[in-house]
Amino acid sequence: MTDKPARKLMRVLDGEAVWPQPIWLMRQAGRYLPEYKATRATAGGFLAMCYDPDFAVEVTLQPIRRFGFDASILFSDILVVPHALGQEVWFEEGEGPRLTPIATLDDVRRLGEARDPLEHLAPVIETVRRLRAELPAETTLLGFCGAPWTLASYMIAGRSSPEQAPLRLAAYRDSAFLAALVETLVETSIRYLVAQIDAGADAVQIFESMGTSLPPSMVESVSLGPLRRIVEGVKAARPHAKAIVFVRGGGHLHRLAAAGFADAVGIDWQTDIADAVSRLPSGLASQGNLDPQALVAGGRALEEGIDAILAATQGRPHVFNLGHGIEKDTPIPHVEAMIARVRGA
Ligand code: CP3
Repeated sequence: MTDKPARKLMRVLDGEAVWPQPIWLMRQAGRYLPEYKATRATAGGFLAMCYDPDFAVEVTLQPIRRFGFDASILFSDILVVPHALGQEVWFEEGEGPRLTPIATLDDVRRLGEARDPLEHLAPVIETVRRLRAELPAETTLLGFCGAPWTLASYMIAGRSSPEQAPLRLAAYRDSAFLAALVETLVETSIRYLVAQIDAGADAVQIFESMGTSLPPSMVESVSLGPLRRIVEGVKAARPHAKAIVFVRGGGHLHRLAAAGFADAVGIDWQTDIADAVSRLPSGLASQGNLDPQALVAGGRALEEGIDAILAATQGRPHVFNLGHGIEKDTPIPHVEAMIARVRGA
């Protein structure tokens, strides 16, 4: 009996320079797809969809059916974790997420008190299990969660906030409060990611989307340290697990790479990719960094953007992706053209 060939993206995470590069897109299930909008219109709401395995499996599979991406990312949201810990979370139509803000150490102590957060997340884990059964064998299945600093920004501000002023203020005013919150998130995230791996996720991605708003003096204590504890915690429990860490904010990237705990680093669209990868250890995989607006624009801008990434990353382990989530006004023919160019390279 011969072994099944390893999934393309997993080979990259093992340090192999796979060509043509595997490709998937952050937020690949979403509002740029008419079939997503149609499904979403019949669901009770965005969060209800995240907790309903029938809906969540369907919308996860939509971009795979349409485009045949090399990886599928679980349809859910980073904010299901604060929700599971007992915080109220809802989405205002056209405005984004809302949470009842937390402010004190007592608030942190109450998180997770009412019930085990993993119980609340059971439908998400069921979605992962069903996805692995329904996806093509060659498609990598990615689980994910938000990084503690990024989650804390929503949990403290109660909404998206430019430059995370409430979070930074809390970090300076009451570092014990922030440290306790981060600790709770580290513990819950490890258990959540281990459950995703056990249900069939090949690898997990951690989103440090608010990495652009980190004072340099806090990078280690609130971002890199907690990310390391999550990845090492997951790997201690499941040694075969692989982790991609996506950090917005270029300054952070090389500290993350040097820390050596991630299997791949996600590179945002503000970062010069040629410069970034020239300073990465040769076996450390990279992912990203096409500007989502170049994909909206299409044409020459898109072609040049793609070619610059391919030129900078040819010969090294790289996963083709955007430098942040796909925009909802992205034309589908542009996505098709991008995939054809990457696969025909
Ligand atoms: O396809 C995928 O990538 C998987 C699903 C996924 C979603 N959110 C679905 C979603 C993933 C991986 C996320 C991560 C996420 N969620 C992040 C980190 C990545 C990033 O983009 O920085 C963050 C910060 C969130 C929080 C969040 N969720 C915001 C700020 C918003 C509102 C923004 C918007 O576009 O409306 C969401 C909503 C959300 N999450 C949608 C989707 C498809 C749109 C909801 C809808 O259908 O109305």
